[in-house]
Amino acid sequence: MPTIRLIFAYSTLTFFLVFFFLSGLNKNDQVSHVVDYVVGNKGPPDFSLYNDLITLSPDEFSIDNPDRRIILIGDIHGMYDPFQSLLSHLSYKSPNDVLISAGDIIAKGSLKGSLNVLSWMTEHNITAVRGNHDQKVIEWRSWINWIQSLPSGKRWLRTTTQRFEETLSSSPSLDVDAWVEEERKKDRRRNGGGNRKWWDRIPEDWKMFGDHYRIAAAMTDSQYNYLVERPLKIWVPHLHVYIAHAGVLASIPGVAKANTRQPLATIPRLPRASRSSDHEAMYRQIQELKILNDIPDNKNPWVTLNMRGLVDDQVVRTKNGTPWSEVFNSDMKMCRGFGNSADDLKKKKKHKSLPCRPATVVYGHAASRGLDLKRWTIGLDSGCVYERRLSALVLGGKLARQSLSEAEEEDDESPLEDDAEDDEAFGAYNIKGHRVGSKVRFGDRAKGKIISVSCD
Ligand SMILES: *[C@@H]1O[C@H](CO)[C@@H](O)[C@H](O)[C@H]1NC(C)=O
Repeated sequence: MPTIRLIFAYSTLTFFLVFFFLSGLNKNDQVSHVVDYVVGNKGPPDFSLYNDLITLSPDEFSIDNPDRRIILIGDIHGMYDPFQSLLSHLSYKSPNDVLISAGDIIAKGSLKGSLNVLSWMTEHNITAVRGNHDQKVIEWRSWINWIQSLPSGKRWLRTTTQRFEETLSSSPSLDVDAWVEEERKKDRRRNGGGNRKWWDRIPEDWKMFGDHYRIAAAMTDSQYNYLVERPLKIWVPHLHVYIAHAGVLASIPGVAKANTRQPLATIPRLPRASRSSDHEAMYRQIQELKILNDIPDNKNPWVTLNMRGLVDDQVVRTKNGTPWSEVFNSDMKMCRGFGNSADDLKKKKKHKSLPCRPATVVYGHAASRGLDLKRWTIGLDSGCVYERRLSALVLGGKLARQSLSEAEEEDDESPLEDDAEDDEAFGAYNIKGHRVGSKVRFGDRAKGKIISVSCD
């Protein structure tokens, strides 16, 4: 015991000696930077502010109530007018209707449009997951707040912004990146480095005064807080649904589907206390949590914000891989349930099989694929910001009482069906602009409807 105490005393002493030694050198700027990091109170804070997951209850995500609707909407990207026209076509009325965004509400569109969308979303406290563009805006605002908290940071940012705005107003087609680089170089050449230390605080590959920066600088504190509260993923356990901007995987890439590391490969062990309750519901819940927690890619914020496909079992954001949704749907096709009913056995013969039931993913992000409706994945980004369409999946309301018939359940392949009564102007359109049936299967047994508006 005395030795441990001695070691503790010495290390505490050493820590303070190092601290005072470094603090003593504070006048030299180079070292002060080191002190900031070593002491840990002035280093760059966490700009990302990730919020991993929220779970929605049956009350918050109800699709079997004729008086309530869930409206899931794809990437808005600051396209305020199409957004409002979609809501008015749907006669959206809070609080009976619950609007949920699949992320990327801002950026790419006009600055004014982004600020209008953000202000509306914040005012109405709309449920949403974060998109990769929302994320960049959060990061820039966190950075701006940090710079402003540093001695004379506020002044540097104000004067630099002034110079930028003046240059921009006299030459609207300014190459922003080149201007920033030139400013940075000017400071580097100046005696004593000038404002170089400020420029050096910009993380690599961040584009100052770009699209994301300007939204970040212009938004209010409550709009920033609204964005920061958005989670990367939403899970709706009672309907077996995930919402994530880019998507989630149902299996670990490169690991055999039947390997016991895979969340869906084994029937979960139930806690002893729960022996008497509904086993299937518990199996599904445990497996769905394992999908979120045991697949490393799903724990990686970059993946659920940016993933498009897989190349050699690696997640990529480029468009050339196998779309992750194809892999997800083929995983779901292997689910044969947990029991040994005649139906399960029949399915077992047809495919390679796993002890699971399918889950559904709603996502955005993939504008280049357009509205992408598969049996277990619903991709809602139909490219509004590229003058195509803004789409929403509507659940509940009039559709609350309609569920899949047994016959439809058998045919797993096509998620869409035609509806003669459909309003031509607001139906579902594929990426080539062809109208497709707009009733869509959702989860185990429900039906939804795709409604979209034109954005050109
Ligand atoms: C927004 O809604 C969430 C629940 O969805 C609630 O916890 C939060 O307090 C609300 N925020 C505001 C500002 O009303």
